[in-house]
Amino acid sequence: MDPMTPTITPLEHSRRGQENAHSTTMELRNPLTIALPKGRMLAPAAELFRHLGWRCELDNGSRQLLVTETKGNEETIRFLLAKPADVPVYVEYGAADVGIVGQDVLWESGRDVYEPLHLGFGRCRLMLAGRPSQRDRDFRLATGLRVATKYPGLTRSYFQQRGLSVEIIPLTGSIELAPLVGLADLVVDVVETGRTLRENGLVEIDQIADCQAVLIVNRVAHRLRLAEIRRLITGATAGADPTNQRPGGVE
Ligand code: PRP
Repeated sequence: MDPMTPTITPLEHSRRGQENAHSTTMELRNPLTIALPKGRMLAPAAELFRHLGWRCELDNGSRQLLVTETKGNEETIRFLLAKPADVPVYVEYGAADVGIVGQDVLWESGRDVYEPLHLGFGRCRLMLAGRPSQRDRDFRLATGLRVATKYPGLTRSYFQQRGLSVEIIPLTGSIELAPLVGLADLVVDVVETGRTLRENGLVEIDQIADCQAVLIVNRVAHRLRLAEIRRLITGATAGADPTNQRPGGVE
């Protein structure tokens, strides 16, 4: 199906059915739509769908943002390519039925989605970090601390839980630059290999959370398209690290 073809409603379908006796029930619904995140998680996410038998030839150079594929004669799926922070938005609103996103991004988004499966890739740690001189500092005695981050919500909770008042400076990238030029005393950011911290003379101070990629599902789609989504989750579970499943796994 051409990705630009508008999907018809059941009512329109029944009207058209009188005109075209060959219309199939496949036309009644959109293909299952999967939101994939651009960036470093795209390659393993696309690999997961290839493992499930889809071509999923998306990469970070792709300019086509919506791709429809058909498998065999009938099963159709649609991939959309979004910024990681937008994946939970597409899924919460039902513009995508399913998404793949890092837990760091999901938690920061606060979006209400069903999260049935940990995928075992995209592992990283959300860390408080800073210059070595900050490591042994007693932050309870500090005033006017500034913390740069892409995660203002998670950072606020972290400091509030410790009863510490800080000024949060939201940035959208290259967070590790902030302490080097005096914009902030500390950063909260994800650490994967540790290279960015090391190469900028920063050190880990406290680990806030362990994160990995998760499959997320729109709550309504999870009820209405249970069979399709369950099939997807079962296939993805086989490709994911079994030690990472949530208790209860596939509901
Ligand atoms: C992320 C993160 C760190 C870096 C950590 O940045 O914000 O800067 O990766 O990875 P490392 O521990 O392997 O060095 P990203 O590459 O997404 O780019 P950004 O700085 O523009 O957000």
